[in-house]
Amino acid sequence: MHDLAEVYKKVDSMSDCIMGAIFNNMWDFEYVPIHVFERECRFSQEKIEAVLKKLSDLRLVEKKIEEYIGASFTFKGLSIYSLKMLVKRDVIDMLGKIMGEGKESVVYNALSKRHGEVVVKFHRVGYPSFKKVKEKRSYGTLHHTVLTVRSAKREFTALKRLYGYASVPKPVDWKGNAVVTELIDGMELIHVRLENPEEVFEMIVDEIKKMYLRGIVHADLSQYNILVNKNGLWIIDFPQFVDAGEKNAEEYLRRDVNNIVTYFRRAYGLKKNLNQVLQYVMDRK
Ligand SMILES: Nc1ncnc2c1ncn2[C@@H]1O[C@H](COP(=O)(O)OP(=O)(O)O)[C@@H](O)[C@H]1O
Ligand SMILES: [Mg+2]
Repeated sequence: MHDLAEVYKKVDSMSDCIMGAIFNNMWDFEYVPIHVFERECRFSQEKIEAVLKKLSDLRLVEKKIEEYIGASFTFKGLSIYSLKMLVKRDVIDMLGKIMGEGKESVVYNALSKRHGEVVVKFHRVGYPSFKKVKEKRSYGTLHHTVLTVRSAKREFTALKRLYGYASVPKPVDWKGNAVVTELIDGMELIHVRLENPEEVFEMIVDEIKKMYLRGIVHADLSQYNILVNKNGLWIIDFPQFVDAGEKNAEEYLRRDVNNIVTYFRRAYGLKKNLNQVLQYVMDRK
């Protein structure tokens, strides 16, 4: 995964059509069969197999040869495809270094002539275990790449809804499993020692309230998903957000608030009453 920029250079335009066909058909096929490539790319079977072999050697696709010949993306393949599309759209001009690697994502910084310094978050759901999802399709089960794309889309949706109302990175664009946002020059709350914990606690609670007023409960809020610097703080990491209207939303909200109250008690000895804070957040004014 650490060589996206290197691999990028090795993928030629012949592969573009095949990757595009995998992308466009992954909702219908766990492994996209060869006849789809023939139809969409108008290549001979030999040429298709040669391109698939190359992509498979680069670990961008996984081939299936029993029952029928077909291909699906690996995490790297989906990431390269998404990146290519963003470059083509002039959203990204140069991919930089890895800034963070979590269980469900790899985050790079990047340069954009149009948007300046940005970050690209490549989502990965269900990796590396390749757990199959229980949703029956005509050609096998729903592939994890579909869930990964859904996750990216959800994150972009949340950021779009929140930006301008709560403090979140400015959403720039998304494609496939990649979400592009403004780069925040800050550190995760867990990695800083605050001089004014109570003030920061109140700022975070105000952000939770603003998000709730926009109809969004984060649902994975913690000291890891808040970036801070001396000018302010930003809430990040939204794929699992819950709509405030959903029936379990209040439970998630309580859990988010509890995570923050507990963290500030343990790290700074700050005593806050969970129910009082929760009431403040839910009060519609
Ligand atoms: N917009 C951003 N600006 C700066 N750093 C970011 C940004 N988004 C994510 N990061 C960094 O990448 C890490 C992982 O991103 P996050 O959205 O939390 O994904 P994950 O689901 O892997 O936790 C963050 O903890 C943070 O260090
Ligand atoms: Mg995170």
